[in-house]
Parts: sequence; C-alpha cells; structure tokens
Amino acid sequence: MNNTDVDIYDIKTLENGNKLVGEIEFPPRKMWVKTYGCQMNYHDTERMVSHLQPLNFSLTDNREEADFMIFNTCAIRDLANQKFYSHLGGSKHDKAAREVKIAAAGCIAQTESKELLKKYKQLDFAFGTDVIDNIGEMVYRAYAGDTKFSVTSWDKSANYSIETKRTAGTPQAFINIIKGCDKFCSYCIVPFTRGREKSRSVSEVVNDVARLVKHDGVQEITLLGQNVNSYGKKNGESLAELIMELENINGLEIIRYTTSHPYDISDELIAVHGTSEKLSNHLHLPVQSGSNTVLQRMLREYSVEHYMERLDKIRQANPDIIISTDIIAGFPNETEEEHRDTLELLKVAKYDFIYSYNYSSRKGTKSAKMDDILTKDIRSRRLQEIQKLQLELQVESRALMVGNTYRVLVEGFGTMKGIKKWKGRSDCFRIIHFVPEAGQEDMDYTWHWVDLKVTSTTALSCQGDVVNVLGKRLTPENEL
Ligand code: 5AD
Ligand code: SF4
Repeated sequence: MNNTDVDIYDIKTLENGNKLVGEIEFPPRKMWVKTYGCQMNYHDTERMVSHLQPLNFSLTDNREEADFMIFNTCAIRDLANQKFYSHLGGSKHDKAAREVKIAAAGCIAQTESKELLKKYKQLDFAFGTDVIDNIGEMVYRAYAGDTKFSVTSWDKSANYSIETKRTAGTPQAFINIIKGCDKFCSYCIVPFTRGREKSRSVSEVVNDVARLVKHDGVQEITLLGQNVNSYGKKNGESLAELIMELENINGLEIIRYTTSHPYDISDELIAVHGTSEKLSNHLHLPVQSGSNTVLQRMLREYSVEHYMERLDKIRQANPDIIISTDIIAGFPNETEEEHRDTLELLKVAKYDFIYSYNYSSRKGTKSAKMDDILTKDIRSRRLQEIQKLQLELQVESRALMVGNTYRVLVEGFGTMKGIKKWKGRSDCFRIIHFVPEAGQEDMDYTWHWVDLKVTSTTALSCQGDVVNVLGKRLTPENEL
C-alpha cells in the first residue's frame, strides 16, 4: 500500500506528461461515463469529469477504449434501475477484455452500494450523491490498490458551498443552487437518495455566475435543485431574491430554473416572472395528478384549486409564459374517476408539453406500503390516454406559434429527410428547426442568436425561417 498521508490536490506534472500524486503516477487515461436520469445527474457527471481532468483523465464516447468507467445512476423509477443493472452486468466483459476500473455513482449507489459491490465482482467502488466532489480521492484510492470500497456519507456541514464546474465550453451552464429534498412525497425516492435540503448563499451563486459570464462566455444558466422553490428558506433568502440579483449581471441573457414544487411558488416569485427581463418564459411546474384525493395520497400539500390559482397568477404576471408539467399515471388505487380528473386538468391547464410516467413502486417510500389493486395493464392504458390527449392539445397550442418570431440560441444541426437543419431553443424552451438563408448554406450557426419566424408546427416539432442573425453576443440595440 502507498503512503496514505497524501494531498490529492498536490499534483505534479512529470516530463513525460504523467501526473504525480504522492507516489502514484497518473498517465493520460480515458474515462467513459454512462449517465441516467435528470439534469442534476448530467451536471453531476460534468463535475466528476472536471474533477478528474487534473489527474490526466479525458472523456471518451468510446466505451472500448475506456480505462475508467462510471455509471452515474438514477433510482426514480424501476425502469432506470433495471437498465443500470443490465448495463453494469455487461461491464464484466470490459473487465475481462482489458485493464479497466469501474465505479457506480448516483442515486442507486447511494442506497445500494454494498449490495452492488457484492453482486457485481467487476465493480471497483461505489459512491453516493453527496461525495461527488471527493471523486479525486476515490480514484486515487482505487489506483493505489484499494478495491471494493463504498463512500456514501452525507456532508454534515450546515452550509452548502461549491464552485460550478464545467467541461462543455458552451454558453449554457447548469448551476446547482440547492441540493436534497425535504418534501417526502409518498411515491418519491429522492429524499432518501439526495438527503436534506441545503442551499448555497445568494452571494456565492451570484459571484459564481458572474465569473462564468465574464470568463467563460456563459449567457444562459439553468438553476438546479430537486425543489428550487425552497431555495434559501433555511438561510432567510429566496429564489426571487436570487433571480433579481442575477438579473444585474451584464452579458447574462437567460435565466431558467428547475424543478419547482407548486406549494412553494411564492407571490414574490410570481411577481418576478412579470418583472424580470432575463427569466425564461417557460416554467416547469409538476402537478403529478389532477385529482385532489390522489394529491392527498401523494402527500403533495396542494389541491388542484391551489395549483390552478398559482398557474393563473403566473400567466397574469407574464402572459407569454409557457408551462410544462410531470404526471404520474396509475398511482396506487387510483380510480377511473380520479384518472379522468387528470385528463380534465390537462385540458384546462394547457401545457406546452408534459413528462408522464407510469407509477413505479420504490422501496422505502410510503406509497410502496399501500395495498395496490391496479394492474400493469390499467396503468399503461391510462398513461396512453394521458399522452394521446396531450398530443392532441399540443397540436392546437403549437399551431398558435405560426407567424410569431422567436429568438433562439442555436445549439447544433441534424439531418431530416436528407436536409440539413439547424435547431435552437427559444427563451420559452421550444425547439425550432430552420434551414440556412439562401447563400448561407455553409454558415456555422452554432451558438449564434437567431430570430426565427415560425412557419409550421406539429405536436412535436416546429419549423421557422431566419429573420435575423444576431451573432454570438446580443447588444442593447438588438433587443427583441
Ligand atoms: N413513479 C413514477 N414517477 C415518479 N416520479 C417520481 N417518483 C416516481 C415514481 N415512484 C416522477 C414525478 C417527478 C419526476 C421527476 O419523476 O413525476 O416529478
Ligand atoms: Fe420527489 Fe416530491 Fe421532492 Fe420532487 S418534491 S424530489 S417529487 S419528494
């Protein structure tokens, strides 16, 4: 075993390009990461990669050339678990074929690390959601010869202080502002996998974002948390206050946040949706069900009436706002009538899009203990009905976009039926596709701001014509 009194941040670069930490040399290595689940997980992956770059790791998409593999897992529904178990099972072939270290991270690793290490011999180590920033130490341990260890401790400090890490080099950045969840909705595993709520301070986030805007070319941010509306509560601060401070950062153009809980959407925050110039015209507000009795069994703390009152108020404050939601189909013992209430809600709430899922029983949650008479078939049929209705409603709501002009930040291109089409996301989160203007076929629009006039729409796609190309930075003259 090597010296254990090692400063993991004391990294020397040797003449041959290897990095030296303590007595261990780190030659250039490739890491491959499979990420499951939500934006929070994708951003956690970005943090991991960024922490390992100083140890000579670079990211590869090619699993076969990876020296180090990480599975960053999601536990929200059983399907995500099953996918991961199957992929992890397959990694025994990687281990047999070459020298590779394999780690499991994220929500499943948080609660099942010991079982995973026991069952999957190819797994070198597992670590939870609250120790991501210690990945350098864990990798050091693994290359020092330690195997089969797990780190799933919680950060016990009262405050939550980090610096945003990025690897992408794009104008878009994810910013963690609050971690954990104190809500304990009866179906949800998140409070068990992500721990208690803890917020960064307003001043820390503002300085962090100002740095990214000034030195890293960031123009659009997404504030992340399981329940961002609880942001700052324990410190006497609030999301509304944070957004108003961020608003003052020159060069920052769009502020998004996700995910919200309807109970915690304050009047103050709704007012900010009306006054802020930079806050996105899109709000994701998960309702989960349109039935009050189901919402009660879900322990969601609000009624359909309260939810609709919040929605109306948000739409009054910002008439251009676009709303999306999450729906769970077939909560335990949901009656046909309760299900129909959800269909009715879709018609009234007029969502731009929804994420909808079959209920999945998660071990350790309150709803997992409920006697449940619903069958898989009933759940699937209800989910289909929800999705079919929403697509019909979307045809109508998207058609209203035709003729309007939207400013998008172009993210890239794809080929549709042999035609190269660029795509960008509007302030209100809609993806719009476009072909270049005549004579501009070779133009690289990536990360340009472009004004697009919508020409046609379907439930799921939207086409536009270029009205104006504004370049990679906006100036006060080209305000929409
Ligand atoms: N079953 C199905 N969907 C779930 N979600 C959370 N837990 C479950 C579960 N046990 C959904 C909710 C949440 C989204 C992120 O995932 O709709 O808003
Ligand atoms: Fe899960 Fe509810 Fe917390 Fe969202 S608010 S993460 S659904 S417990």
